Amino acid sequence: MALTNPKIQKEDNSLDQTLRPQSFQEYIGQENVKNNLKILIQAAQERSEPIEHILFYGPPGLGKTTLAHLIARELRAQIKVTSGPAIERVGDLASILTNLSPGDILFIDEAHRLNKLIEEILYPALESRSLDIVIGKGPSARTIQLELPPFTLIAATTRIALLSSPLRSRFSGGTYRLEYYSFAEIESIIERSAKLLGIEIEKEAVGEIAKRSRFTPRVSNRLLKRCRDFAQVEKSDRITAQFALQALDLMRIDPMGLESTDRMILNTLISKFGGGPVGLSTLAAATSEERETIEEVYEPYLMQLGFLERTSRGRLATNKAFEHLKHKAPVEAQSKLV
Ligand code: ADE
Repeated sequence: MALTNPKIQKEDNSLDQTLRPQSFQEYIGQENVKNNLKILIQAAQERSEPIEHILFYGPPGLGKTTLAHLIARELRAQIKVTSGPAIERVGDLASILTNLSPGDILFIDEAHRLNKLIEEILYPALESRSLDIVIGKGPSARTIQLELPPFTLIAATTRIALLSSPLRSRFSGGTYRLEYYSFAEIESIIERSAKLLGIEIEKEAVGEIAKRSRFTPRVSNRLLKRCRDFAQVEKSDRITAQFALQALDLMRIDPMGLESTDRMILNTLISKFGGGPVGLSTLAAATSEERETIEEVYEPYLMQLGFLERTSRGRLATNKAFEHLKHKAPVEAQSKLV
């Protein structure tokens, strides 16, 4: 599971730089979020104030980081990028915050992984721009309060339920949920990316890649790049439908965008547990995958396709999943299916 895993991977970085939209106009999809952000930006600019703190959430690969960069660009503000797990100690956060210049944007990715102690320092920094730090230990310890420059926090998370409610309530500029892209939007993104990569692509090839992109731009761009490699090796500067299909077949990605691990999870659920319901831990043990990976990486898309349901009694494969994998739904399982 590398190609269709929407989480960031090493090779994405250089790719993202080339393909990342440079303006809201270039950014395809997420219309409602974009419209809200434009108003927020214009209003703040008219008041000559930094915009209020913003939270983005939703599945990986849908453009949370890109939007943060676009906001910074639009405001001509500097953006400092960090992530929840990178801020290990209170001192790390203090150093980031005290080094901000007025109007800067601080982007914290994976905000659900901030440790609680750090979160608590962050609250007053967000609310009243003051940083309370304790210096020394024991009876001689004292608290000093530093005033911070006006700044905007943009936080992003794939797991909003894991953010503490005091933190969630501090995003007065809004909390925005990014949605999966439509098929047509993914097609437009592939066409735009192909142009930027300097390769021609047949409309039919665009459709074949789009079908397997999990409604996620990061995945479509990655698959496009693989197809480009394939065409190049075939000495062609055009991705034909035939090249695309051959390349995608080589990657073992089926027409619904499932990779071997997705199919293995569904097959395990179906053949070992009669389609479920089965608890997440049991499913994780039976597939040798981690609970978290199943929950964050595989399940969102399987649910999106209507192949899997999360129920109070566990995970359930739907009729659609049985059909897709060409299993006959057992009679007793059918009654449990939706
Ligand atoms: N590349 C990645 N995401 C994109 C988007 N939303 N619009 C245009 N190009 C993109």
